Formats: sequence, structure tokens, C-alpha cells
Amino acid sequence: MNNHISERITALRQQLGSSLAILGHHYQSDEVVQHVDFQGDSLELARKIPDLDAKYIVFCGVSFMAETAALLATKEQSVLIPDPKAHCCMAGTAPTQRVAKVLQEITDLGRKVIPLAYVNSTVGVKALCGEYGGSVCTSANAAIMLDWAMGQGDCVLFLPDKNLGMNTADLLRIPVQERAVLNVRDKDGLLDSDSLSRKLLLWPGVCAIHFRLKPEDVRLVQEDDPRPLVFVHPECEPGVVALANVSASTSGIIRAVREASPGATIYIGTEDNLVLRLARLNPDKHIYPLGAGYCSAMLKITEARLLSTLENLDEHAAVRVDSAIAPKARKALETMLDVMA
Ligand code: 13P
Ligand code: SF4
Repeated sequence: MNNHISERITALRQQLGSSLAILGHHYQSDEVVQHVDFQGDSLELARKIPDLDAKYIVFCGVSFMAETAALLATKEQSVLIPDPKAHCCMAGTAPTQRVAKVLQEITDLGRKVIPLAYVNSTVGVKALCGEYGGSVCTSANAAIMLDWAMGQGDCVLFLPDKNLGMNTADLLRIPVQERAVLNVRDKDGLLDSDSLSRKLLLWPGVCAIHFRLKPEDVRLVQEDDPRPLVFVHPECEPGVVALANVSASTSGIIRAVREASPGATIYIGTEDNLVLRLARLNPDKHIYPLGAGYCSAMLKITEARLLSTLENLDEHAAVRVDSAIAPKARKALETMLDVMA
């Protein structure tokens, strides 16, 4: 950590008082986290926005999170992200035009399709969800939202994360025969008629960080004596989740660590900034990363970039969402907040 930068940020925060709110996701580095007013998982951060009065909301996280904040903020508020290029690679696996084509193709077959987008998606995809009467979910409420979506039409298109989709379908006991992972790479379309008759259609996206974790990684640590606990994020593949003791959102993992007995050994399968912080904050437990590594998009937010944003609040480009799609994307998000209310 750079003391000079830290001191400047602290001084600016004091100077700006309640006109500034800094939000940070759990995957941010400690050098950034020390400066945030509110730290949370994706759902908690989204739910916080409507309560904020601050004129400037500085969002330390990836771009889809800042866009979500911009959609839920008032016109008078400016949402700023210290590095606008901090893009989640999973969101990029579902390009808006391709999703639109898939939705059209399913609709043309006479099926009422309800798109349910993980918040880790582009604003264009969220707008399609609003347009088709669907919604949005996070890892913390995926089961509630998928259950809701299954009651709204003939089938659900869950996107972009097939792992979160399958893990959530397992929780809801949606039969395997009712699910299909779409082949959307085929330029002539996508789908065979068999897939299309299923109730749950899964986009084939994954998170490159959680994808690294394989069932063998879990089995290997479980050979230790005494057998350690394994906590993972539901973006891990189902084979990993099936072997773990807990599968939960980032805040859920933090709670599970807090509730574990002193002396417990815990391997955690999620982003390393969070795992290493949990290890430092819980010296009475033995906490190790399972090996997912760092999210390079989250690492783009540095203390120096945060300082530069705070020094140039009115010059730093605010996060803007195209006004042609913002109302539809907002509708999809508000549906989620309403279902959760
Ligand atoms: P949470 O919603 O659990 O905070 O996770 C967001 C994320 O990007 C996980 O990779
Ligand atoms: Fe996206 Fe994966 Fe990074 Fe989460 S960990 S922000 S899903 S790339």
C-alpha cells in the first residue's frame, strides 16, 4: 500500500463528506477495500444503490456492476468506475445480438421464453430480459429468481453462466431431461428441436477464473487428515459444487467462514483477493485458496486509479447507459428487486 495515496484518499473522503459514497465488491484488493463505505456481494451492492443520497457514487468493481448502479441511481447522481475497462469476461460470452437472435428463434417456434440474466451480463442483455418479461439474478438469489422465472412462460433462457444455471437447477430439482446447454457458436443457429423442447435452456458461458477449478482439485485436498472443509462459489462447475461443503455467493462464503469452528481447515474456491483476506481476518482458522486465482478485471481497480477518480470527480467520465435501452434494463433489475422485497 502506498501511504501517500492512502492519505490523499482519506483526506478527500473527509472533504467530500456525504456527497461521496464508495462501494466495493468483495473481490477488490485490500488497498482498495480499506477506503470503501460499503462492501458487499453483487446483490447487496445493487440493493444499496436506491438508498444512497450521495451525489457521487464511486464503484470499485467490474463494469457490469457500475452499469447496474447507474441504472438504479437517480439522474442527479454520477456513478464513476475508476477503470471503465474493468470488464467481466463472463459478461462478454453473451453478445447482445446473438442473445436477441436466440430469443427470436425460440419465440418463432411459438414458445413463450423468459430470459433470466445473471447480473454478470451486458446492459443490452438485461434490456432484452426486460423486453421479454424476464429478469436478472445474482448468485445470492439465483434459486428464488429461477423458480420465479419458471412460472412465467413455457421455458427459461438462463444466461450467460451455464454453471450457475445448472447448480441452481440442481438445487430446485429441475430434472436433467428438462435442461439443455445451447450450442450458440454455430453461425446458422443454434438449436436442435430437441433442445428447444426443454424447459430450461442454458447459455454456454463460464467464468474463466472459477472454470479453473476441477473436481480433482477438491478430491486432492479432501485426502488430507483431518478432512478439510471446502467452500466454493456456484460459478464453479457442478462436479466441484457436488463435492463441496458449501456453495454460496461471496457474502455467503464469508458467513460460512464466520460460522465455522475455531481451528477448522477450509479451502475456498473463489477469487483469491477474497480468500486471502478471509485467511488474514480469521487467524483462528486455517484458510487456503483452492486455486481459482485473481480476477484480472477486478485487479484493474487500483488505489492510484481510485485517487485519480476522486481528484477528478467532475471530469472523470460517468457511467452512462444508452437511453434507448436503459428503461428495459431497469425494468429487468426492478423486477428482481420487487421479487426480493
Ligand atoms: P457475487 O454475486 O457472489 O458477489 O459474485 C460476483 C462474481 O462476479 C463472482 O465471480
Ligand atoms: Fe466476472 Fe469471473 Fe471476475 Fe466474477 S470472477 S467478475 S464472473 S470474470
